Amino acid sequence: MNHQYDQLRADGPILMQRRGQGSVAYVVGYQAAKQILGDHERFVKDVRNTVPPAQRSPAEPANDMFSLLYNNMLGTDRPDHTRLRALVSRAFTSRHIQALAPRIQAIADQLIAAFATQAEIDLIDAFAFPLPIIVICELLGVPVEDRASFRRWSHAFIGIADQAYAYGQSLTEFVQYISRMIAERRANPRNDLISSLVHAEEQGDRLSEQELFSMIALLIVAGHETTVNLIGNGMAALLQHPDQAALLQREPALIDAAIEEFLRYAGPVEMATMRYAAEDVQIEGIMIRCGTPVVVVLAAANRDPAAFADAAALDITRDARKHVGFGYGVHYCLGAPLARLEAAIAFNTLLARLPGLQLAVPANQLQYNEGTIVRGLIRLPVRWQAPATR
Ligand code: HEM
Repeated sequence: MNHQYDQLRADGPILMQRRGQGSVAYVVGYQAAKQILGDHERFVKDVRNTVPPAQRSPAEPANDMFSLLYNNMLGTDRPDHTRLRALVSRAFTSRHIQALAPRIQAIADQLIAAFATQAEIDLIDAFAFPLPIIVICELLGVPVEDRASFRRWSHAFIGIADQAYAYGQSLTEFVQYISRMIAERRANPRNDLISSLVHAEEQGDRLSEQELFSMIALLIVAGHETTVNLIGNGMAALLQHPDQAALLQREPALIDAAIEEFLRYAGPVEMATMRYAAEDVQIEGIMIRCGTPVVVVLAAANRDPAAFADAAALDITRDARKHVGFGYGVHYCLGAPLARLEAAIAFNTLLARLPGLQLAVPANQLQYNEGTIVRGLIRLPVRWQAPATR
């Protein structure tokens, strides 16, 4: 995939692709990507904001399944975005997240203990998926036992098809589940994030019912579809570069730099969500007309040689912190501190407990899912030299 981005980047930082009567702008250069993500005045998330306020038709109050699930902060602009983000931002600050470290370590240890005596496992199923899911379920206060259903619903939400399950059916079940959870918390509030959101909704002016549903859906999906793939993609990249794996094993203190490099080199979010030009904007000689949908291809920007020397190489000693794997600007990933902490614990624990960790299939047999937003492996078969020790 990445070599295709190299070809696209050669054709310019922004590619206009015709769609119907208009075009879509695909942004593949790093500078242009940052400029657009950082300019929330001229590149908006809600298409209605591309029309001057006086000409906007009043928003229809919709209560269909789609509005209930997708009316979240990622699709809104100021002032709604600021209000929605503020409601949950405290729970995700670095200070709050650091306090979870012992619990995350305990979960990682427990997961490894469960497969330690086996010779080979699928690292996605046995570790990379359950670790962040258990953490986000505990944080939100949703039952971990329901995680198989969450996985199906999350996949449907971001457009990864499950053959056995229709998209509509999955989303209907998701709405019903959230609805039951809200009713339950309303009756019996607890000390968890969902209870505090339900409380905010009861205050009326802070969160509408539709926004409450969408917020819970976004947090469940974001918690399910991303960190699993940072662990999976990062580990797959590392195991294909044994020199880098050996270096990280020798020097675990490199972990923070390594995580940033994994986010740059094989970040889980391939493309940012859609933006729209709110006026005619010229960027690097390309005119983007008002109303044009704009897709920033984060994976391409992160491999731009104009921003990163030797961009195609995995180098855990480089300073990759300016990558856009978590986005940039006002919609910068809310869960970044959590994802970084989980990944750091995951990598250091796996490398310490599983000596000689290696791929159990040739790298060219690794299969990625087919979604366009999230990039992740379907399976990651690995083996190691000796039975794991505690
Ligand atoms: C490695 C893991 C993760 C990656 C790579 C990632 C990536 C991203 C990216 C690229 C964006 C911005 C999208 C855009 O501007 O169109 C974003 C936004 C967001 N992420 Fe993450 N994410 C990760 C983990 C998480 C986790 C664990 C959570 C929390 C549950 C989370 C919650 C969010 C939320 C709520 C937003 C919307 C922020 C806003 O609109 O202000 N993410 N994430």
